[in-house]
Amino acid sequence: MAMRITPSILNADLSNLTGEISRIPSADAVHLDVMDNHFVPNLTLGLPVVECIRKNTEKFLDIHLMIANADRWAPAYAEAGAESVTFHVEASDAPIRLAREIRAQGARASMGLKPATPIEPYEDMLAELDMVLLMTVEPGFGGQKFLDLVLPKIRRTRELVTKTGQDIWVQVDGGVSLETIERCAEAGADTFVAGSAVYRADDPDAMVNDLRDKAIQACRH
Ligand code: DX5
Ligand code: ZN
Repeated sequence: MAMRITPSILNADLSNLTGEISRIPSADAVHLDVMDNHFVPNLTLGLPVVECIRKNTEKFLDIHLMIANADRWAPAYAEAGAESVTFHVEASDAPIRLAREIRAQGARASMGLKPATPIEPYEDMLAELDMVLLMTVEPGFGGQKFLDLVLPKIRRTRELVTKTGQDIWVQVDGGVSLETIERCAEAGADTFVAGSAVYRADDPDAMVNDLRDKAIQACRH
């Protein structure tokens, strides 16, 4: 199984985004956390900033929308040229239609779940998705402690995804570090967001490779 590291810039220098993205050439994507101060109690960046980033980097853009009214806003991020757009199921009235709209714009469609949201109700719509994002902290802030209670859901999600017979990525987001990544990989995650672990490291790009190595090792066991 391919193991992907997708660093979040939430703990990077937000006044120098293209510079910060250029520090992680080994990363499989850059994870951009869009927060609206409604769905989560924090405010980060929005569509105009993502459009500027798109003009300045070839990197795979992994957009994580932590915004209310996702049905209204998410397709525009795909239209702006992001390779992957994650909306939260808790913020969507019509997740199937939304996933189809994102795919119609040529992006990968991904659905995010907060730690207490179960995966089972969505089994029948997994085929509409290219990725499932499982939050391993309550969304809103970087640097929080990893929630081990999500591990069984990672396992169940991997089982349900395998049943579809499709290559749907399982991403974990929140508190992922050298200390926690093995647990996530063993449980079945293959795509790892790491914010503070990467951007607080002396050498962010070396950390990306160390995280990937650990995930690969854990998966072999
Ligand atoms: C939190 C964001 C995460 C966060 C990850 O709501 O979705 O992407 O920035 O940061 P760390 O790895 O520090 O938990
Ligand atoms: Zn995120």
